[in-house]
Amino acid sequence: MGSIDNVILSRRTIYKFLDKKVSAHLIQKALEAASNAPCHKHTHPWKFYSIGNKSRNLMIPEISKLAEIKAKKRKSDNIKESVDRAIDKIVSAPVLFAVTSKLNPNDPFREKEDYAATVCAIHNMVLSFWANGVGSHWSTGSITRTDETYRILNIDGEKEEIIGFIKAGYPKKVPSVAKPAVDEITYYLE
Ligand SMILES: Cc1cc2nc3c(=O)[nH]c(=O)nc-3n(C[C@H](O)[C@H](O)[C@H](O)COP(=O)(O)O)c2cc1C
Repeated sequence: MGSIDNVILSRRTIYKFLDKKVSAHLIQKALEAASNAPCHKHTHPWKFYSIGNKSRNLMIPEISKLAEIKAKKRKSDNIKESVDRAIDKIVSAPVLFAVTSKLNPNDPFREKEDYAATVCAIHNMVLSFWANGVGSHWSTGSITRTDETYRILNIDGEKEEIIGFIKAGYPKKVPSVAKPAVDEITYYLE
């Protein structure tokens, strides 16, 4: 993959994965990258829950329920297909993490800084994977936000918030995405 610049510039969200295992070694490296993210006050507010097959299977009824509601809302003519696709996205992801950030209702500024640090940790993980040929997809779909997911994963929603699922695996296809030019996002002040 080459230099850090190349890793950053070539990374894209990967939506479809090859049926190929990601080694425990690469997952460990990505977790180490996450753990080395910058973090104000050293609060280390993130947790990475590796979701195995048993927990994924327990989520199927909730995934089905949510996918059916969504498909009906957009008047899909093939609800079963939408539901099966939603289940497959979770069940067949080669790697699946739920990532949480610590809540701090008494200190909204700390909570915001902690959220920012957790986002850094996630992106460190994503870039570590990408540097080793593994693609990722950050998802904040409804399954990541429902009470049932907190219950199944045994996450205390009063203390931590799931800020996304990270699916990872070897890419089937790397999409191309247009990004804003640097001069569209940069403001030079005298
Ligand atoms: C906070 C966050 C939440 C996201 N949630 C979803 C999601 O729920 N579903 C999805 O398909 N992609 C999701 N994505 C991926 C974005 O759609 C993707 O980053 C965007 O299309 C830009 O593409 P790129 O990552 O290849 O640059 C999310 C990305 C971020 C940063």
